[in-house]
Amino acid sequence: MELRPEQVEANRGQLGLLQPADPAPAWHVGDSRQIGRRLADVEADFVFSCPPYADLERYSDDPADLSTMDYPAFLTAYREVIAGAVGQLKPDRFACFVVGDVREKRGTGVYRNFVADTIEAFLDAGAQLYNEAILLTAYGSLPIRAGKQFAASRKLGKTHQNVLVFVKGDWKRAVAACGDVNVSDDLFPEADEE
Ligand SMILES: C[S@@+](CC[C@H](N)C(=O)[O-])C[C@H]1O[C@@H](n2cnc3c(N)ncnc32)[C@H](O)[C@@H]1O
Repeated sequence: MELRPEQVEANRGQLGLLQPADPAPAWHVGDSRQIGRRLADVEADFVFSCPPYADLERYSDDPADLSTMDYPAFLTAYREVIAGAVGQLKPDRFACFVVGDVREKRGTGVYRNFVADTIEAFLDAGAQLYNEAILLTAYGSLPIRAGKQFAASRKLGKTHQNVLVFVKGDWKRAVAACGDVNVSDDLFPEADEE
């Protein structure tokens, strides 16, 4: 569920890139806080989201847009979204959120602890933390900016995000529900060459 119709339109436009797109994802325009009510009949096998990282990027001026909210209001709304989504996840299934910590925009610019707040929201919704992976993001202009920033403030340049995987219920049954996975080397032939 996505608040902005133009984002849903873009997602639908990319459907052809999914191999195979069967069953095809169903996107719904709406406020994710309503997910439990709007999609009450859905029982999900998996939950995935890359949510707004608080106010890091502002997506619209819609007051329901989580990226317009101050951090305490954001957290309340965010926790509601997570509780609703975990509620619709079948028992014994996995959920994955991709998040990255964000600094306060004003004041000292300390980290908000958004990754920990995400974990806490899932724990409170009845899931458990199962995996964490670090997603390396493109350096871009970071090497040019990082030195000056470090000298002035001792703040490090950040070039990663956090991939958090949660399990609701029994992990063995969640694994069984995923079915077989091909982890043989022929999937990654370039790894053999190194
Ligand atoms: C990091 S972006 C992810 C974009 C998108 N899911 C994609 O396919 O890349 C976060 C998204 O959350 C959406 N959003 C913000 N508040 C929302 C809300 N209350 N309900 C649903 N979506 C919301 C924003 O419009 C934005 O597109």
